[in-house]
Amino acid sequence: MKPKHLIGSIFFCLLTWALSGIWGCNGVLSTSDTKAPQPFRNLGDSAHYVGITACKGCHSDKHATFIETGMGQSFHLADRKYSKADFNNVKPVYDKKNDLYYYPFWKNERLHIQEFKLRGRDTIHNRIEQISHIIGSGQHTNSHFWMDGQHLFQAPLTFYTQKGIWDLPPGYEDFNTHFNRKIDIECMSCHTGMPQTKEGSVNIFNKLPLGIDCERCHGPGSLHIKEKTSGIIYNTNKQADYSIVNPKRLPWKLQVDICQRCHLQGNNVLKPGKKFTDFRPGMHLDSIFSVYMPSQKGDKAFVMAGHAERFQMSACFKGSNKGDLTKYNANINFTCINCHNPHVSVKKTNQELFNNTCKSCHQPKTKKSKHEGCSLSESIRGTQTCVGCHMPSSDTRDIPHVSIHDHFISRTNTKYNLQINAKSKRISTGEITGLHSVNSKNLSHRELFNAYVSYFEKFDSKMLYLEKAKAFYNDPSVELATKIQYHYNLREHASIIELWETGITEEERSELLSDAWTQYRIAKAYDLNIPSQVQKALSHYEKSCDAMPWNTDFTAEYTNALVRAGRIGQAKEMILAALKHQPKSELLHFNLGNCYYRENNLSSAMKEYETARSLNPNSQAVLVLIELYISVGQKDRAKAMYDRAKQWADPAILRGWSF
Ligand code: HEC
Ligand code: HEC
Ligand code: HEC
Ligand code: HEC
Ligand code: HEC
Ligand code: HEC
Ligand code: HEC
Repeated sequence: MKPKHLIGSIFFCLLTWALSGIWGCNGVLSTSDTKAPQPFRNLGDSAHYVGITACKGCHSDKHATFIETGMGQSFHLADRKYSKADFNNVKPVYDKKNDLYYYPFWKNERLHIQEFKLRGRDTIHNRIEQISHIIGSGQHTNSHFWMDGQHLFQAPLTFYTQKGIWDLPPGYEDFNTHFNRKIDIECMSCHTGMPQTKEGSVNIFNKLPLGIDCERCHGPGSLHIKEKTSGIIYNTNKQADYSIVNPKRLPWKLQVDICQRCHLQGNNVLKPGKKFTDFRPGMHLDSIFSVYMPSQKGDKAFVMAGHAERFQMSACFKGSNKGDLTKYNANINFTCINCHNPHVSVKKTNQELFNNTCKSCHQPKTKKSKHEGCSLSESIRGTQTCVGCHMPSSDTRDIPHVSIHDHFISRTNTKYNLQINAKSKRISTGEITGLHSVNSKNLSHRELFNAYVSYFEKFDSKMLYLEKAKAFYNDPSVELATKIQYHYNLREHASIIELWETGITEEERSELLSDAWTQYRIAKAYDLNIPSQVQKALSHYEKSCDAMPWNTDFTAEYTNALVRAGRIGQAKEMILAALKHQPKSELLHFNLGNCYYRENNLSSAMKEYETARSLNPNSQAVLVLIELYISVGQKDRAKAMYDRAKQWADPAILRGWSF
């Protein structure tokens, strides 16, 4: 087999790992909806974000306790003092599926993570990256980020504080993305102060504050500060200061929306024209995005970052928040802040506070009691607390080695009942019947189609989701871009081409020309459907790169096609430019190797393929190297590459060689 064929045939489907969404959720709930206008003046463009230090000067008391909380410490630079991990006698973590080891260590006060592979006594792969950030306060975990040039990625090792162990990050046990998991705006918009990405990029950040800050719950602060410094002061005991949002002045539903902006993790589908950074406290969350979770039969398990959904399933929540949607009355309504003061860590919160909240509504029958007291006799309850039984701590389904508190307060979900029922496995994963939205109702067919297609693509590739999507396909509201995405996920490339060439108007076509993902999918369709149509594919790859010039995956796909079309000079120029902002892209090095190979510059080609291989032990570059080393008479090296490829490559590809 000739390597030139390899270059053409092995390069498709490089992007699948780029789309790995990991954390899934479940449950059922309906919410009510009013669009009462809010009087707060920092909801619009008149106010901007100023950062936590600006608030510290006047609210030093709030600042001092807030920075001790999980939210205040959610994201840090990788400094020793922010790491909660144990570095004594660490044994490398072994990923059995991929036969790889992971090891964390400090060198010159910089944290590093090493990935290596052993063959007998030899280390046949060794990659070390310096860690840039720690995500997770350590309440549950410390996960780690690294930067390839300007691009932010997750590193494949996490410390689980509750069990005190190192292991692969959540999700990596099924699908190890190595050092390649991109950290995007969706992820960071839940984990820190208001971030901003560079236009046309996925994971280059212009702004990346360290830690969730005041303005995520109070809204942008510039207007408030301007008024306070110019002496406009209200007596906030008597009246609201509308220059900034005090969540306690919001109706209960908008209050919950602030917390569930982040504490509700599912498939977040943006409304047309909206961005993840558009939500501001005081807005209705469903005006920015809808959150979808799979509906499951009889499932009682719960997930990390699912607190908002679980809590809203409770009879306490439903029963207390029925009436007036325009106000919040702490004596009647029941929201997160009845129990949580977000400026104080739960670790420093007196447990009595939680129990007193329960008792403020539930008392044994007297004239004064609002609701029924506990039906379990006091002799059985003993000294145990209300939340100890009714909000039991348990292992979450989606995160290994982590336990959180179930916020579904119910009669059946108590620790006492769980113990009785533990043997009958009442907590089981039910059959998935579809998706439901936790925060929106009256969903259009367009939105549902969107939700199903993106859920399949980002979270779970069960055909069920695309089958559900199909029911809405012909609805006139469904967008062309999503139809193309639908066919793309079904690998119906001919359908994409047909839609593009004959199924749409000129106007629609010109609109889609600046949609990077749609252009990429059309390019792929031409490339995969009719390989001789690489010319047609090229123009669409080019459009995807024009729309997202900083997306290295698009650059890699485009330049790979350019090489196949013989446009080596152009490919080389683009690759070298992209390597300046992402120097460790395996795909770019592989493509550059292809360029040199086509130019018959074998030594440079080998160097690039070796670089690609050092970044990924399973790189296709290994296969090309077998051939290259044979052609320059280095049989031993060729055999070494062949032995490696045997671990993972398709035997059909290897059949051409024998050693
Ligand atoms: C120059 C001093 C100053 C700075 C800086 C400042 N505040 Fe205030 N803030 C005050 C004063 C004084 C009050 C109470 C009187 C008032 O609201 O007019 C107040 C009140 C508030 C309230 C309560 C409003 C209400 O209606 O109950 C919130 C919430 C608040 N500040 C948040 C913030 C946040 C968040 C920041 C940083 C973005 C910030 N403040 C920065 C001086 C300041
Ligand atoms: C910008 C996203 C965001 C918003 C808004 C938000 N949270 Fe959080 N919250 C988080 C994240 C992320 C964590 C976990 C941080 C960590 O430990 O690394 C967290 C942790 C917590 C914790 C546990 C940590 C501790 O030390 O107490 C509580 C309690 C909490 N949030 C309550 C709330 C409540 C109540 C609201 C609404 C008033 C809210 N959060 C709004 C993202 C958010
Ligand atoms: C919709 C908001 C949201 C998104 C998106 C999200 N997270 Fe989270 N994540 C949370 C919240 C909220 C918690 C805290 C849950 C708790 O304490 O129970 C959390 C917990 C975590 C923790 C554990 C922190 C600790 O010590 O408690 C890590 C690490 C983490 N997320 C990483 C990520 C990464 C990496 C991404 C993106 C690839 C991501 N998350 C996407 C909201 C989100
Ligand atoms: C996770 C959400 C959240 C974050 C982050 C947050 N707050 Fe608050 N804040 C609230 C809520 C909820 C209330 C209303 C609490 C109540 O009175 O029950 C509040 C109330 C306030 C008040 C007015 C009430 C009072 O007690 O004076 C001030 C001032 C304030 N916050 C300042 C800050 C500052 C400064 C920061 C950052 C250091 C901050 N907050 C971070 C949620 C948050
Ligand atoms: C009835 C009281 C109550 C209400 C209401 C409540 N929580 Fe909690 N929450 C608790 C208790 C109790 C804990 C465990 C505290 C501890 O660790 O001791 C907790 C812990 C948490 C944690 C830390 C992770 C964990 O599960 O241990 C987060 C995050 C959180 N709550 C978020 C929320 C959010 C968001 C809401 C509203 C949607 C909310 N809570 C409403 C009582 C409450
Ligand atoms: C703001 C008031 C309020 C608070 C605070 C409150 N509840 Fe409730 N709770 C209710 C209402 C309303 C119902 C519905 C039944 C009724 O009307 O009595 C209810 C129902 C219940 C039920 C029966 C649920 C079922 O599945 O039938 C349990 C158990 C319960 N609450 C426990 C608690 C515990 C434990 C706490 C504290 C963690 C708590 N509640 C806090 C208002 C409240
Ligand atoms: C030892 C565990 C335990 C403790 C502690 C506990 N409960 Fe319960 N509670 C239960 C169980 C179990 C049930 C359900 C009994 C049943 O339905 O058979 C229950 C039922 C309830 C109900 C439903 C009553 C009804 O008839 O609808 C309420 C309300 C309630 N508990 C509130 C509380 C409050 C408030 C506290 C704290 C003062 C508390 N519980 C402490 C285990 C506990």
